[in-house]
Amino acid sequence: MRIITSIKKMQSLSSQIHLQGKRIGLVPTMGFLHEGHLSLIREIKRHCDVTVMSIFVNPTQFSPSEDFADYPRDFVRDKKLAEAEGCDIIFYPDAKDIYPGNYLTYVTVEKISYILCGVSRPIHFRGVATIVAKLFNIVKPQIAIFGQKDAQQAIIIKKMVNDLNFDVEILVAPIVREKDGLAKSSRNTYLSPEMRRQASVLFQSLKAAEQKILSGETDAAAIKALIKNKIAEKPAAVIDYIEIVNPETLEHQAEIQGSVLIALAVRFGKTRLIDNIVVDKK
Ligand code: PAJ
Repeated sequence: MRIITSIKKMQSLSSQIHLQGKRIGLVPTMGFLHEGHLSLIREIKRHCDVTVMSIFVNPTQFSPSEDFADYPRDFVRDKKLAEAEGCDIIFYPDAKDIYPGNYLTYVTVEKISYILCGVSRPIHFRGVATIVAKLFNIVKPQIAIFGQKDAQQAIIIKKMVNDLNFDVEILVAPIVREKDGLAKSSRNTYLSPEMRRQASVLFQSLKAAEQKILSGETDAAAIKALIKNKIAEKPAAVIDYIEIVNPETLEHQAEIQGSVLIALAVRFGKTRLIDNIVVDKK
């Protein structure tokens, strides 16, 4: 496995790989790898010849009050895990090369960046779209993979790719969960043991909502109330949002027909967790 830190070197290596007629697959991450990230490597390897994982804690997607400085980092461990999974290249750039002092350009996907997580994180998706666009220009992948864990992020990236004509195919992989259902996340390490126990309510409430929809409930407000009440049983949980939206467009759904995305964000102390489920009535 090769570790590339230079933007220019990554670009020329990618051009050489293309000249050999090989397909590059990109797995963008912020590191501190867990089984969710590793599942993305395994899946993309089925669709490409050379797998590149980027590891970069992207400062522009964190607001000044968020956890950029505290975000967990362990490059030595990440390297071992990625290599064991068969990753070919890690792109591990320096923030001062990605965003030099005179940096001015950002990518904004309007409207859908300002709902759901965008309400409490208004600059987040501008940072995500910008870094992903830059990674596409640096790594030049034919295909890139994102996790359904960050459902809104995946939809925003697909919209950016479509609107800006990036020649990159986007795959979305299923959520990898802990035994008790909690979605794997680098941020789970922030939780106290008691909060960690309570956090399993997120998936439990989503599953309860799914059951209710499959047994005929069509009123989105009733489903949201069910989730809210279940989460409210856990003393440490503070709900940020619970929304029921169209899984492709993120449009608000008052009446549940066909397929819906139920997405939520809940705080446990300083830690904000997100989760979602797609429920298909057909
Ligand atoms: P990060 O949180 O490190 O996640 C990297 C990728 O792993 C994302 O596509 C995310 O959806 C996926 N992922 C995380 N937890 C997962 C889980 N439990 N199951 C399946 N996939 C999971 O998302 C980011 O980084 C950044 O915003 C990034 C796209 C790299 C831009 O900076």
